[in-house]
Amino acid sequence: GPVREFQIDPYIILDDDLKYFYDDVRYLLKSGTSQPELDTIASYYFDGQGKALRPMVTMLMAKAINYHLNNESHQLVHKQRQIALFSEMVHSASLVHDDVIDQSDFRRGKPSVNALWNHKKVTMAGDYILSIASIMIARLRSDDVTIVLSQILTDLVQGEFMQLGSRETENERFAHYLTKTYRKTASLIANALKATAVIAQADDNVAEVAFQYGRNVGLAFQLVDDMLDFVSSSEQMGKPTAADLKLGLATAPVLFACEKYPELNPMVMRRFSEPGDVERAFELVHKSHGLEQTRFLAKKHCNEAIRLAQELTESPYQKGLQVVADLVINRMK
Ligand code: FPP
Ligand code: MG
Ligand code: MG
Repeated sequence: GPVREFQIDPYIILDDDLKYFYDDVRYLLKSGTSQPELDTIASYYFDGQGKALRPMVTMLMAKAINYHLNNESHQLVHKQRQIALFSEMVHSASLVHDDVIDQSDFRRGKPSVNALWNHKKVTMAGDYILSIASIMIARLRSDDVTIVLSQILTDLVQGEFMQLGSRETENERFAHYLTKTYRKTASLIANALKATAVIAQADDNVAEVAFQYGRNVGLAFQLVDDMLDFVSSSEQMGKPTAADLKLGLATAPVLFACEKYPELNPMVMRRFSEPGDVERAFELVHKSHGLEQTRFLAKKHCNEAIRLAQELTESPYQKGLQVVADLVINRMK
């Protein structure tokens, strides 16, 4: 797309902020406990193999806002970086819990935490990451930031809860899916980005631009994730694919496919629990236009994110925000 011509690599322009990012997380986790095994399990996913999308986009927004407000101090960037640390730590804590819930055995190209340690210890390790992240935010001594970031936690839990054994009617389904997707993925990005505006004492309009940009990028990211579950290999993704149907989950590609193949409806209702359901649904999704429709919806959210970024003063970071929206729609893993 046209954004490509900016030739900006967000990871390069943020190198100073991201270089020691995982070292800092590991240091926080290590210094918070006298239990070496707790530290080992909690640190397991902070090996630098993740895409670090959340901290990257958080720092891009932080710096785009600082530029927009003409208000950049080392102290402010340091605080915004702690918000970025929080976003990655909460994300990883939720993945640790998620792998237990989904009984998944592979993530980021290696055995998942629960494949290596028992569920009780793994659950505690997820809680531990969350507790260390919470202390860090409490130390910012900003009630407004604490309130914005706490919303992420209630949303994550509710989003995950919504997909446990839910059985919506045909009419409710897509709205339910979008609400769930906002809560389990987009809220984290939207509220982390909003928090970088709040800590910079930006006005409500700028905070709203940050929030809506994050919400749109987050929704697009999860839509693409749900599409890749049908089309990508587990080698490529570093985690199991073709997994959602087996977990009983009807994501956007299936919900779109239902329009063309109504025989999917009863399968969605019984959460693909009968023999042959998973295989048949997989085949019908590929025969339908569900995957293209999912990408199209993701693209719509990316375009909206690009439009929102353009409301901020032009800067390398503001351009970087547009590149990110482009990366999300074109990502392969
Ligand atoms: C991955 O989804 C999971 C999430 C995005 C959120 C999971 C949230 C919880 C387990 C609630 C606990 C929350 C806190 C605050 C620790 P997925 O299973 O669709 O993706 P995957 O393919 O990467 O496993
Ligand atoms: Mg899950
Ligand atoms: Mg999972």
